[in-house]
Amino acid sequence: MMISQHIPVMIKEAIEALNIRDNLNYIDATFGGGGYSEEILKKADCNLLSIDKDPTVKNYAKKLKVKYKKRFTFVNDDFENLESIIKENNNDFVSGGIIADLGVSSFQLDDSERGFSFNKDGPLDMRMSGKGVTAQELIYSLDEKELAKILWDYGDEEKSRAIAKMIIKERNKEVLDSTFKLVKLIKRVKKSDHKKKNHPATKSFQALRIATNQELKSLKKLLMISEKILLPGARLVLITFHSLEDRIVKLFFNQISGKQANLNRHLPHVIKIKKVKFKVINKKPILPSNTEIKSNRRARSAKLRVVERMEI
Ligand SMILES: C[S@@+](CC[C@H](N)C(=O)[O-])C[C@H]1O[C@@H](n2cnc3c(N)ncnc32)[C@H](O)[C@@H]1O
Repeated sequence: MMISQHIPVMIKEAIEALNIRDNLNYIDATFGGGGYSEEILKKADCNLLSIDKDPTVKNYAKKLKVKYKKRFTFVNDDFENLESIIKENNNDFVSGGIIADLGVSSFQLDDSERGFSFNKDGPLDMRMSGKGVTAQELIYSLDEKELAKILWDYGDEEKSRAIAKMIIKERNKEVLDSTFKLVKLIKRVKKSDHKKKNHPATKSFQALRIATNQELKSLKKLLMISEKILLPGARLVLITFHSLEDRIVKLFFNQISGKQANLNRHLPHVIKIKKVKFKVINKKPILPSNTEIKSNRRARSAKLRVVERMEI
């Protein structure tokens, strides 16, 4: 059940960064509620192909299809398949640009049945696509060390080992099948943290969501494909919501724009650059204004980065 509205983050900045022009083709890799997609279609007489792995957003896409007809196409898939998706839609290249507004939407967070939120009780699911291994199945498939690594690597959870230990100890006493059962275990470990600004389960939930959806793997694939398929003048715009994502995007942009080829554990597929083909548009990431952060808490950790394929 969809019970909320998704307020697009930094929409003005994102649309400006994409440099939308008539007759070009664009990709919105993370359709969500269609906020960015609709703005792209309004801005110029361009064509747009939007992607989302979540099948529940189809209704929003249908509304845009009715309004924009042939100019708009929606594909329910993972953006890591972008190369085959655009081929199936009669294109090999992208002339205008690609935008991806990463992470979860408010629809996903607010629907307790999806299991993304530590504030709502629901099944321990967390799958954006509704397919594959759930967060619960993931937790049961891991040993203590592997679970602690996920909590540390993807959540920067400083109590990762203690939380993993608690989960492994308790998971066979009572089935760990709900968000609130998991929250209870995390709170038992982080009991002294209750005065902190963020909820004690914030980091663990982020980590489990990233692992369940293999978010970093998909992001890396999207970046690699984008490098191949953007035509001169086309832009690549990424909006990230945590430092892991942002680091991957930053390092990748540094590489393709000819800055040092940075070998990093989060970016193992270093591209061998024969010719520098991209330029970074903003040296520093674009951040949301204080006014936006006040009116939309989700915006507080957003960072927008943009590169443009050069004429060579
Ligand atoms: C932050 S929301 C996007 C909101 C959108 N910009 C708007 O204005 O409504 C992120 C969306 O990306 C989707 N998503 C995340 N990772 C994805 C992936 N690897 N492939 C396709 N869609 C993905 C999620 O399902 C979610 O709907």
